[in-house]
Amino acid sequence: MSDQMSTHSFTAEPAAAPDPAMAAVPAVSFRGLSVSFEQADRTSHQVLRHLDLDVPRGQFIALVGRSGGGKTTILNVLAGLITPAAGTVSVLGRTPAEARTSIGFVPARDALLPWRSALRNVEYGMEARGVDRHERRRRARHYLDLVGLEHAADRWPWQLSQGMRQRVALVRAWAVQPELLLMDEPFAALDADTRQSVRLKFRELLARDPSVSVIFVTHDLDEAVLLADRVIVLSGGEFIADSMVPPRDGHDGTSDELTGAHLALLRDLRNALRHGRDDGRI
Ligand SMILES: Nc1ncnc2c1ncn2[C@@H]1O[C@H](COP(=O)(O)OP(=O)(O)OP(=O)(O)O)[C@@H](O)[C@H]1O
Ligand SMILES: [Mg+2]
Repeated sequence: MSDQMSTHSFTAEPAAAPDPAMAAVPAVSFRGLSVSFEQADRTSHQVLRHLDLDVPRGQFIALVGRSGGGKTTILNVLAGLITPAAGTVSVLGRTPAEARTSIGFVPARDALLPWRSALRNVEYGMEARGVDRHERRRRARHYLDLVGLEHAADRWPWQLSQGMRQRVALVRAWAVQPELLLMDEPFAALDADTRQSVRLKFRELLARDPSVSVIFVTHDLDEAVLLADRVIVLSGGEFIADSMVPPRDGHDGTSDELTGAHLALLRDLRNALRHGRDDGRI
């Protein structure tokens, strides 16, 4: 069987009924967020500087910026993996550590546990959340099928291509039915055709549950404008641009062509990325 995406129609899990009280709580809110790392020479390097952000429920944010700018660091703070030097951080109305079981995380690479098959990697996140074995297996197979990997369920990670591994990592995050998805360049390792089909599946999934919020790190500005509701540019440890993406009416997700207002936004974002802060850092 081929490693292509499945072409049958999408049949995701039914979305959970939205809880109106929870809808009022932002997905993410931080104030004065600062993160510093100690360097080899014992000096401190401040990566994030007094950042403020509010992400309403259901919003899809693309976070862009040059390499080393602190994008992954922000995701790690939200996932509770890094404690900030200063600031307050709230995720789904809780601390990042408390919210952990409601977060799906798709790291940039090397996400899979090498001693587990593809199927058991997808089950892993559900195991940690106490989903029973039968349900875990059913859901894992369902989601692997969704991204065309049903034939690879019993393979080890080293027997999968990078693109296949990345798709397993994606569905592992989806399978926990998260309220917040943190995605770190999730499609960067895929070839153009596979990226477009995984993107399409991803959009279909999100369209079924508009209450899921997403923070999506990418170096691909076109991808940011194609997928997100809002694009934020991080430069020199600060947010230097924060733009809403014009509605993509009539854009069914099968084409990656952008026109009009989207191209203008792309131009602005490219300029922001190019110029960054006055000191040239971005
Ligand atoms: N655990 C750590 N200890 C020390 N320094 C770190 C640590 N994590 C990140 N850094 C440093 O913080 C800065 C920001 O790193 P980060 O990984 O967040 O950047 P990024 O924007 O995700 O970059 P890329 O686009 O290349 O993935 C870099 O200078 C990096 O070396
Ligand atoms: Mg990164």
